[in-house]
Amino acid sequence: MKAMKKIVCIALALLLTAALTVPALADEVDDIKKAGVLTVALSPDFSPMEFVDSTKTGQEQYVGFDVSLAQFIAGELGVALEIQAMNFDACQTAVAMDAVDLSISGYSWTESRAENFELSDYYYAGDNETEQVLLIRAADAEKYTSAEAFDGLDVGAQNASLQQMLVEEQLPGANLKIIGEIGVGVMELQAANIEALAVAKGNGEQIIANNPDLVICDWQFEVAAEYEANVVMLRKGETALLAAVNEALAKAYAAGYYGEWYDAALELAASEGALEVSVE
Ligand code: ARG
Repeated sequence: MKAMKKIVCIALALLLTAALTVPALADEVDDIKKAGVLTVALSPDFSPMEFVDSTKTGQEQYVGFDVSLAQFIAGELGVALEIQAMNFDACQTAVAMDAVDLSISGYSWTESRAENFELSDYYYAGDNETEQVLLIRAADAEKYTSAEAFDGLDVGAQNASLQQMLVEEQLPGANLKIIGEIGVGVMELQAANIEALAVAKGNGEQIIANNPDLVICDWQFEVAAEYEANVVMLRKGETALLAAVNEALAKAYAAGYYGEWYDAALELAASEGALEVSVE
């Protein structure tokens, strides 16, 4: 009987050791380190967060605050950065489908994203998204000064964006027109195919600087504080990578890099080669 007990004890001990030595399933951080590259999806149509410097080619053409942040996170992991440029909605699909490691594309925290993705701690990119506004044609500035003024009119917003959500919630009388790329939305507005385009204010100011025929509407969206900062988007369950990203964010914040990156992005956005387009 005693011997039996002993055997059971040994068997249990062996089982326990085996369980402890099984490598943690899918530690994405290890995988990234082994591959030597961090793949990041972004939609480079959102200056100053991510845009294209048309004087450059290849990976170097992608610039902006989020690109600096992506480079920093890759550096902290000790790997190279590979940016994959695609439309904003496609970035989110790519994360969900595990086609990229993560996406950094000016994401506001939203309830539905928090449900469907892992979202990092907040990071603050200047005052880009402290206000959310409507771009309109300068000639219409007197005409559109209230939410009701847009009743029955076409208002554009980027697909799967915070701005889309804001139009749906705060301009219920308007016809929402989904735009794939912000640059296309700007052209639709200039061509009078839509009457307004919902954008982050910082982004809107960049667009106006290059398009003097457009202005920011007097009427603005009401924006809850939790939407003002940005977050990195990861696939649900990738908590090890999330922890590494949060650690990098804390380090960048403590080092005071956010302000530097934002100023550098604004400067680049004002330069010749800056384009508000993403590659097709
Ligand atoms: N912050 C807004 C959102 O979360 C807009 C982000 C747009 N980003 C971009 N790269 N186009 O939906």
